[in-house]
Amino acid sequence: MKDQVFQLIDQECQRQLDKIGLIPSENAVSEAVSSVLSSCLSNKYSEGYANRRYYEGNQIIDKIELLAIERVKALFGVPYANVQPYSGSPANSAIEFALLQPGDTLMGLKLTMGGHLTHGHPDVTFSGRYFNSVQYGLGADARIDFDQVRKLAHEHKPKLIIAGNTAYPFVLDFAKFREIADEVGAWLMADISHVTGLVIGGEHPSPVPYADVVMSTTHKTFRGPRGAMILVTERGLARDPELGKKIDAAIIPGLQGGPHNATTAAIAIAATEAATPAFKKYAQQIRKNANALADTLMEEGIPLVGNGTETHLMIMDLSSLGFGLGGQVSYAMDVAGMYANRNTVPTEPSSPFYPSGVRLGTPLVTTRGMKEKEMQKIGRWIAEVVRHVQHAELPQDKKARTKFLQQFRVEADQDLKLLEIAQEVKAMCRKFPLFAEEK
Ligand SMILES: Cc1ncc(COP(=O)(O)O)c(C=O)c1O
Repeated sequence: MKDQVFQLIDQECQRQLDKIGLIPSENAVSEAVSSVLSSCLSNKYSEGYANRRYYEGNQIIDKIELLAIERVKALFGVPYANVQPYSGSPANSAIEFALLQPGDTLMGLKLTMGGHLTHGHPDVTFSGRYFNSVQYGLGADARIDFDQVRKLAHEHKPKLIIAGNTAYPFVLDFAKFREIADEVGAWLMADISHVTGLVIGGEHPSPVPYADVVMSTTHKTFRGPRGAMILVTERGLARDPELGKKIDAAIIPGLQGGPHNATTAAIAIAATEAATPAFKKYAQQIRKNANALADTLMEEGIPLVGNGTETHLMIMDLSSLGFGLGGQVSYAMDVAGMYANRNTVPTEPSSPFYPSGVRLGTPLVTTRGMKEKEMQKIGRWIAEVVRHVQHAELPQDKKARTKFLQQFRVEADQDLKLLEIAQEVKAMCRKFPLFAEEK
């Protein structure tokens, strides 16, 4: 009899196949990447770096890690790379550990306006508790308010400025960040986790000419394994020739132990896949799909933060349709076969836990081979769901919320309209495998 875990994995694969994944940070990997992840490389311990390991038997692992590093360096045009971070959060912590002393000041985008926890979110995170974190925000146009960034930078003299985000639909102006960092002598770190694939495909400006250090997760638009890479640019090395070594030391012994060698090998494979013309087409299609989805939603009367997108993601702003609707809409969407995540909007009238937005992205549906025509269908289905549950506003009375949501979910699970859409979604999904080879 199959172990229950395998049965559950089968169920999860089926779920992914039958539903439309619209979470902008998710993707599906190629068979090559997937097979490497379950290889014998997972059996090996290799603390340290190539030719400087604490364990014997790393002759082959050294070659694999060096290959991954060389490929990543060539892909981004940087002189130094570390491919060992376990994931994006430890990678950001390592950069902060390498560049800052406890109590030093860093600046990042506010979480509720699209920043990431590791960019200095106060009190509850490593970056917000061990450093003096100053957070910048967005202007009325939902774009980064550079006047505010400059003012805060001059006032607080940060040692590190982080340019990056997790829920921001516009391209980042790295040159402007550089200008401000130079005015106050700060390091500039670009966290391009979300847009790496777009950067490689030429659909988003590259931070490499401007930033000192670049971080990216490898499992989002890069379409690789769950992991991360840290790149040091020519500019960063010119400012401190030891910067690469400081980053390496921050990873191990600073924060991590043995690297995940299967992940390292999968990064090497993904880097080769990302260097192909097919990947460039993929990045272009992500953008076309995002535009098509955004246009359809707006035609259907669903407002978007910033009225659209310049990247792979968009955020539905449901605040004008009802109070605190994000959670109800994302739940109902999932019942209808389309999963996304609730998200704050920049002028959030409700709260981060019960926000008014839903974040949507096109990397995964594009990997499956869906194009503009499918995006229009998806946009119309989403609009139908929104209209269908728009009445389900969050109670103003905080004590009534838990019960209200429980009841909402019970009803949504049996809602005939939502289940009918789910059937249509499933029928469309049958035509699109999880990873469609580009023809
Ligand atoms: C911009 C950004 N940085 C860092 C991370 C953290 O990555 P991980 O979830 O792999 O720790 C994320 C993940 O959502 C992200 O969006």
